[in-house]
Amino acid sequence: MEIINRRQRMSSVARKIRREQDRTIGLVPTMGALHEGHLSLVREARRMCDIVVVSVFVNPAQFGPSEDFDKYPRDLTKDTALLTDYNVDYIFAPPVEEIYAKGFASYVTVEGLSDQLEGASRPGHFRGVATVVTILLNTIRPDFAFFGQKDAQQALIIRRLVKDLAFDTEIVILPTVREDSGLAISSRNLYLTSEEQTAAGVIHEALKRAKAAYKEGERSGGRLEILVRSTIELEPRARVDYVNVIDADTLEHLDRLDDRPILIAIAVYVGKTRLIDNTILNKAKKKDASV
Ligand code: PAF
Repeated sequence: MEIINRRQRMSSVARKIRREQDRTIGLVPTMGALHEGHLSLVREARRMCDIVVVSVFVNPAQFGPSEDFDKYPRDLTKDTALLTDYNVDYIFAPPVEEIYAKGFASYVTVEGLSDQLEGASRPGHFRGVATVVTILLNTIRPDFAFFGQKDAQQALIIRRLVKDLAFDTEIVILPTVREDSGLAISSRNLYLTSEEQTAAGVIHEALKRAKAAYKEGERSGGRLEILVRSTIELEPRARVDYVNVIDADTLEHLDRLDDRPILIAIAVYVGKTRLIDNTILNKAKKKDASV
């Protein structure tokens, strides 16, 4: 395994693999602090591709001024040790100035999908995500890139970006990995105290209740939102940021639910930590959907 810090080196290594060795490349973009969610992506990349690249880059452009960029967990030594066990070929871990050189001025915005949900609570977040993903795809030109369903809106935006800008990369979205309590695994779970970890189990519980209600015939988006919200509010350590019942492809708000794929997307503060989660109803009809 080689750790690459320079963008130019990364792109020449990838070019060589593609041209001279005719091997497929899988990219797993991450911000480090690797956990079982990332590792599930790495395992699938290893299964599908000849060469696996994991990028580790805490992307300043996707953090707002009052967000946790400075305290976001970073431990490249630990991440490297984990990835060695998974037979990863390259770690691309550039310093900030390799990605955003002095005078950087070109950003990517995916219109229509970026302003609601996470985009409303975190203005500019998806511009930062779309920009860095574009740079990573251009640098490495992978055949496949792997993302988690936990970030459902991000997954949708990246699919749109790749389609609109004609990237020759197939996007693979894999199911959310959960703790035994149901809590979706996330690097930000590291901020939770053990009491908060337990309390955060209420998020998945609320999604499960909504899913059961839909199965039993509930077809009002508004009532499902109330059900999710009121379940979460039973937990004193939790505070709802948003609960949205929306079309899983367009993110349009839905009052009446039919048999199209429906996304229930939620963001909740547990203590001071903001967590997101989602579930898809009618997922059999939606490729790559998962809880
Ligand atoms: O999901 C993440 O960890 C980040 O948003 C990503 C895709 C690596 C871009 O920085």
